[in-house]
Amino acid sequence: MVKIGTVLLLLLFFHNQQAYSLDAIGSTSDTMIATVGDAEPANLVPILRGTGQLGTQCFTDAACAPSLYCFACPAASELQPKCTRKTATATSTFPKNTSLPFNKYAWLTTHNSYAIFGSTPQAGVPIITFFNQEDSVTDQLNNGVRGLMLDMYDFRNDIWLCHSFQGTCYEFTAFRPANKTLAEIKTFLDANPNEVITIFIEDYVHAPNGISRLFTNAGLMKYWMPVAMMPSNGKPWPTLREMIQRNHRLLVFTQDSTKEATEGIAFQWRYTTENQYGDDGMRNGSCPKRNGTPAMSDVSRSLIVQNYFPTNPNPINACRDNSGGLFNMLSTCFAASGNRWSNYIALDFYKRSTGGGAFRALDFLNGQMECDCQDISKSCSC
Ligand SMILES: *[C@@H]1O[C@H](CO)[C@@H](O)[C@H](O)[C@H]1NC(C)=O
Ligand SMILES: *[C@@H]1O[C@H](CO)[C@@H](O)[C@H](O)[C@H]1NC(C)=O
Ligand SMILES: *[C@@H]1O[C@H](CO)[C@@H](O)[C@H](O)[C@H]1NC(C)=O
Repeated sequence: MVKIGTVLLLLLFFHNQQAYSLDAIGSTSDTMIATVGDAEPANLVPILRGTGQLGTQCFTDAACAPSLYCFACPAASELQPKCTRKTATATSTFPKNTSLPFNKYAWLTTHNSYAIFGSTPQAGVPIITFFNQEDSVTDQLNNGVRGLMLDMYDFRNDIWLCHSFQGTCYEFTAFRPANKTLAEIKTFLDANPNEVITIFIEDYVHAPNGISRLFTNAGLMKYWMPVAMMPSNGKPWPTLREMIQRNHRLLVFTQDSTKEATEGIAFQWRYTTENQYGDDGMRNGSCPKRNGTPAMSDVSRSLIVQNYFPTNPNPINACRDNSGGLFNMLSTCFAASGNRWSNYIALDFYKRSTGGGAFRALDFLNGQMECDCQDISKSCSC
C-alpha cells in the first residue's frame, strides 16, 4: 500500500522524466567497461573469466563466479564495484538438509515482489508508483528467494497485482494480472521438486472465492499446503522433508481474516508474528510488532516474519540497509521474539549489498537454527 501524498510526490518526480535509473549507480556502465578494456591492465585478465570471488574487484558480471554479480554500494562509500552475492545457499547443502521442522529455516523474501522497476505497463498507461525490486519473479526464485509478498486487488473483472492505496487499484498503479506471476511460480515449482515457496497476500480482493479461483486456474492447488496441516498453536511445523514428500510446497497466507473460514486460505497472523514494516521497523535496537498483529514474543505463532525496508523504497540506500543494518536487527528481533530466530527476511532490492547482504544474514540465521553455528555456508559441524 502507498499513501496518496507519496503518489503526488512521485507524479512530480516522474514529471520531467527524471525517474532514477537503477543502473546509473551500482552496476557497471558500458562506458566503464570500454575504458577499462582499452587500458587492458594485466591483472584484470584472470577476473574477466568468471572466476572473481566475493569481494574481488570487477567491471562486469561475467568477471564474477556464477553466484555473484558486479556491484558497488556508494551509500556505504564504496565506489569500486566488486563481486557481490546474488544467490542464497541451497538448503540441500545444509548439514541437516531437509530434516528439521519448517519453522527452523530462514527464507529470503521480497517485499512487493511484483513491483519491479522497468516493468512493461499492462493496463495501458505508464505505471506511477513505487518500485521495490529490479528483477523478475523468475529470477528472484532462481536466486533463492522463497517468500513473495504480493498485493492483490479486484481490477478489470480479474485479480491484478497493484501497488496502490485505499484498497483500490488504478490504471497507473496496476502492474499485471496476478495469474501471470502465479504462472512463473508454477513453472518454478514444477521444475524444482524439492523447493517450497511462501506467498504473503496483502489482500484487497472481495470477489467471492476470487483468490481460490485464481490459484485453481493457475494449476497451483496440487502444491497447496492445507490449513489443517499448519500448526496454529505454537507446535513445530512438519519437517521440510515431509512437506516436500507430500507436495505441500506452496504456503499461502492472506491478511484477510475472513478467508480462512470461507476459502481455506490461512490467515497470516494465526501462524506468524511480524515486526513493523517501514522506517519504524528499522530503528537500531528495537523490533516492534506490526500494528494489529500478535506480539513478536507470542509463541503460539511458530513462524516469524522480519521486515527490513524503508517506508519509501530507496534503491540507493538498499545496499547499505541490506548489509549492516539488517544484520544487527537479526539479534534484536531474536530477543524481541522470545529468543527465536526469524523465518522470513523481507527486503527491497534484495540483491543489493556491500558483499554478502541478505544472503549472509540468511546463512547466519540458518546456521543458528541448524546448529548454533555462525554461517551455514561454511563448515558447520553439527
Ligand atoms: C538433501 O536434500 C536434497 C533435496 O533438497 C537431496 O537431493 C539430497 O540428496 C539431500 N542430501 C542428503 C545428504 O541428504
Ligand atoms: C490470465 O487470465 C486471463 C483471463 O482472465 C487469460 O486471458 C490469460 O491467458 C491468463 N494468463 C495466464 C498466464 O494464465
Ligand atoms: C546497532 O546496534 C548494534 C547492537 O544491536 C550495535 O552493535 C551497532 O553498533 C548499532 N549500529 C548503529 C549504527 O548504531
